[in-house]
Amino acid sequence: MNLAATGQQVSARPEDSSERVFVCRSVSVALPHQLGDRKVLEDISLEVWRGEFFTIVGPSGTGKTTLLRVLAGLTQSTSGSVQIQGREINGPPEDVVMIFQDYSHALLQWRTVARNVGFGIEGRVDASELKQRVSDALALVGLEKNADDYPWQLSGGMQQRVQIARALALRPAVLLMDEPFAALDAMTKATLQDELHRVREQTGSSFVFVTHDIEEAVYLGDRIAVITGSPGRLGQTFDIDLPKPRDQIITRQLPEFLQFRYAVHQAIRQGGHA
Ligand SMILES: Nc1ncnc2c1ncn2[C@@H]1O[C@H](COP(=O)(O)OP(=O)(O)O)[C@@H](O)[C@H]1O
Ligand SMILES: [Mg+2]
Repeated sequence: MNLAATGQQVSARPEDSSERVFVCRSVSVALPHQLGDRKVLEDISLEVWRGEFFTIVGPSGTGKTTLLRVLAGLTQSTSGSVQIQGREINGPPEDVVMIFQDYSHALLQWRTVARNVGFGIEGRVDASELKQRVSDALALVGLEKNADDYPWQLSGGMQQRVQIARALALRPAVLLMDEPFAALDAMTKATLQDELHRVREQTGSSFVFVTHDIEEAVYLGDRIAVITGSPGRLGQTFDIDLPKPRDQIITRQLPEFLQFRYAVHQAIRQGGHA
């Protein structure tokens, strides 16, 4: 466990710059507001490395969604630099996809599961590749048997899997996830957390996963960045060197897991939030 090194990056920081998926340097964001621009993020510097599971945890209103939108090229930073694979972000990058908490609005209710999953690649790949990619993506999230169902016939957890499968069909290098499991019950959430780790193993994609759930951030993360305050600022970064594969029962009762949970909690509290 690397608690002693909190605040520093103790994982092997990649020497090769091509191993850095995102590099943010002193990023600030102000958004228009009735009473003038409102500063939402202040001086954010971070790196996300290839293939890692990077979690960002912080209370509501600290700019987590805004930060993901900046990485997705949907919101422009006011100052500072944001690069993806060495290029300055200027609009949504090709190989990055964002997944939202609200699956019911994200899915097209009049299309079958398979046609939802294929939605982003229709017309971009030929029919046989489309079919292959849809069936691979459905298999990754365990929905092979539901290809012909409609979203409204599925549980919340299954609908969120469809949204994830649709993202995977794009074969993205990076998945940005904005509190994707917040609306799900505890058991479904646990199952989807483990599925996500499996997907990461099988695809090698990088994940940036935002949550306000400290335990979820520790359970899933290779590294955690804490964001607090308004405007949001980055606090400590933790290397979560818990053994892999993680296990819902074994991992969560390790003393190190509890220590990380405590340390992240403290970091949020020191940042001004209980
Ligand atoms: N489009 C917008 N225009 C103006 N202010 C916004 C906009 N989106 C979010 N904000 C404000 O930015 C702050 C951070 O929002 P957000 O990024 O959604 O935080 P979080 O995801 O951590 O809850 C909040 O004060 C919110 O009201
Ligand atoms: Mg949010």
